[in-house]
Amino acid sequence: MIYQADEHRYDSGMQYNRCGRSGVLLPKVSLGFWHNFGSVDPYERSREIVRFAFDHGVTHLDLANNYGPVYGSAEETLGRLMDDDLRPYRDELFISTKAGYDMWPGPYGNWGSRKYLMASLDQSLRRMHLDYVDLFYSHRYDPDTPLEETLQALVDIVHSGKALYVGISRWPLEATRFAIDYLRRRDTPLLIYQGRLNMLDREPIDEGILQLCHDEGVGFISFSPLAQGLLTGRYLDGIPDDSRMAKAKFLRPDMLTDDLLSQLRQWNDEAAAQGMSLAERALRWILEQQGVTSVLVGASSTRQLEQNLHCVM
Ligand SMILES: NC(=O)c1ccc[n+]([C@@H]2O[C@H](COP(=O)([O-])OP(=O)(O)OC[C@H]3O[C@@H](n4cnc5c(N)ncnc54)[C@H](OP(=O)(O)O)[C@@H]3O)[C@@H](O)[C@H]2O)c1
Repeated sequence: MIYQADEHRYDSGMQYNRCGRSGVLLPKVSLGFWHNFGSVDPYERSREIVRFAFDHGVTHLDLANNYGPVYGSAEETLGRLMDDDLRPYRDELFISTKAGYDMWPGPYGNWGSRKYLMASLDQSLRRMHLDYVDLFYSHRYDPDTPLEETLQALVDIVHSGKALYVGISRWPLEATRFAIDYLRRRDTPLLIYQGRLNMLDREPIDEGILQLCHDEGVGFISFSPLAQGLLTGRYLDGIPDDSRMAKAKFLRPDMLTDDLLSQLRQWNDEAAAQGMSLAERALRWILEQQGVTSVLVGASSTRQLEQNLHCVM
């Protein structure tokens, strides 16, 4: 059946924050494609989640070249979604992708060289069936490539028309300061910084990244805002078979210590006393931090996404 986006998608409660000192507004809740959108996942479920998101004003979809598994397949899922559902809405969507982690074998498929970033974006556009992305990120800081090379590649990507804006993810403070200055001098201001910030991991606050972004007019988007599901009710009564901890390698059972569980239970009780789920409370906490533009959630079902949207609606 042809998808017709909900006509009330912009008045169902989603709120939008200005991304730093730019013209771009991002939804307070954005959707990430790291898990649940690969070739191992049922396409119809991925499709349902994306439709639900867009129908509720989630206009920002975040990808990377190697999301899947298999690598590249989350971008292929987006390409299929563009063809099946989203093409008429392209100008209502803010789509990002990234390069920086291992993507293809050999010396040119990893880190931050101009060679890698340029080739990777071309591949991403082909997989996603797009002419351009709204935002292209350097996915991680590369200590061995001159920062000027990585940053000039970002500038040239914008000049080529293949991305409208650029961002960086997980760069350390001093390199971020350098990037902000370099890009600003070349009239390609850094739009946004993507970092892990949640109630269990406050590094961007402790290290001064969030303050720097705020001071410099750069947006900040928090990835893994629910600590991959820890900051939800998911693990309070054991490890469900269908959970990320049971299935994927990035969230290991040994992370679920007794101390952590008792902290999570305490936060869960406090949230319940306020009439909220733990997930809602965790997302609200991030959005209350000065300088945060959006929380970039993952979801393996529309039910989860619906619960997470309660932090704004
Ligand atoms: N820049 C980077 O280096 C980087 C790194 C990581 C992520 N990211 C971005 O950030 C996005 C989000 O990361 P993430 O997936 O780790 O985010 P997250 O929101 O912290 O975790 C999402 C996972 O938590 C569980 N979950 C979510 N809502 C739930 C709810 N209401 N109740 C119970 N369980 C719930 C689901 O896992 P189950 O499978 O257990 O259901 C879901 O897949 C990624 O897709 C990607 O776009 C970027």
